[in-house]
Amino acid sequence: MPQGALLFDLPNFPHDTWTTHLRRFLPDLDVRASFDEATAKDIMYCVAWKPQPGMLRKLPNLKIVFSMGAGVDGIMADTTYPRHIPLARVVDDTLAQAMSEYVVFNTLYWHRRMNDFAALQRESKWRQLPAPRAPFVRVGILGFGVLGQAAARALSALNYQLLGWSATPKNVDGVRTFHGSGQLHAFLGETDILVCLLPLTPDTRGILNEKTFAALPNGACVINAARGGHLVEGDLIAAIDRGHLRGASLDVFNTEPLPATSPLWSHPKIVITSHSAAFTDPASFMRQVATTIQRIDQGLPPENLVDFTRGY
Ligand code: NAP
Ligand code: GLV
Repeated sequence: MPQGALLFDLPNFPHDTWTTHLRRFLPDLDVRASFDEATAKDIMYCVAWKPQPGMLRKLPNLKIVFSMGAGVDGIMADTTYPRHIPLARVVDDTLAQAMSEYVVFNTLYWHRRMNDFAALQRESKWRQLPAPRAPFVRVGILGFGVLGQAAARALSALNYQLLGWSATPKNVDGVRTFHGSGQLHAFLGETDILVCLLPLTPDTRGILNEKTFAALPNGACVINAARGGHLVEGDLIAAIDRGHLRGASLDVFNTEPLPATSPLWSHPKIVITSHSAAFTDPASFMRQVATTIQRIDQGLPPENLVDFTRGY
């Protein structure tokens, strides 16, 4: 039975449901929703998403932080994060499955011109709109990690041409891979549907911008399921309005919830979902948390750790 308490620092999540899942694996673990000066020393594990900057530094016996999602930008935003404390992120099949569904759906949506059909339907207009077969459509995935590669596997079942861009070289069957900023332009030049699945870091912030869009072929579409900070929203609207891009699917935004005043909401060529592409599955996540706590207890290294020098 592990020593110490786990701080569940997710104020807007159903504490009881998540804790119930954790108790299936660690029935006696002391789980708390808050701490004060006297009890800070009890906390050895923390589940977090966007912790108050400086909060984690107040926990003198902290052994590990668990990010509630795959992306850790909300935690890395705390510049006082105590970097000697490992940070684990969610890596699991349920998240990859959900993200693959989102990417396949939105790829088909733009490839098969569903937005054009929806516009015709609003005017009761019957018109047959051709679309190329999938083997003639090039889908480029920016960020070819756990989720990007899972999405590529799902898309390959439909025979799309696949391209992947990452920081380091990759060798994946059936995918033309590119890496580093030196190969970004070549990657974009051959991408008809651009899917962003990058982590948000200082290097990737604002990467979906005017220059990136200009490097895409005329008529390309953009799908951003990563973070709102990747996208320069005004540049996207401008590229669509001047007819260079056909449209975009956006799941994530600079400000969430997306303000009612945002022009993105009413744009006829932008499809919006509310940061819902892939939710962390509570049961699966709590199993990962429990397994990691048990590994630490047995003196084994934790898995799925963030590399602080890369920021993801
Ligand atoms: P991951 O496994 O860490 O993959 C990240 C990929 O991005 C890697 O291929 C990495 O390259 C590449 N990359 C990072 N920085 C780069 C740079 N500067 N230049 C080129 N490539 C770079 O992450 P993941 O698990 O796939 O998750 C990706 C992101 O999806 C998360 O960070 C999160 O923001 C987002 N997400 C969104 C939702 C949602 O519901 N919308 C749900 C889950 C996750 P290397 O492989 O060479 O390191
Ligand atoms: C969700 O956005 C995640 O990062 O898992």
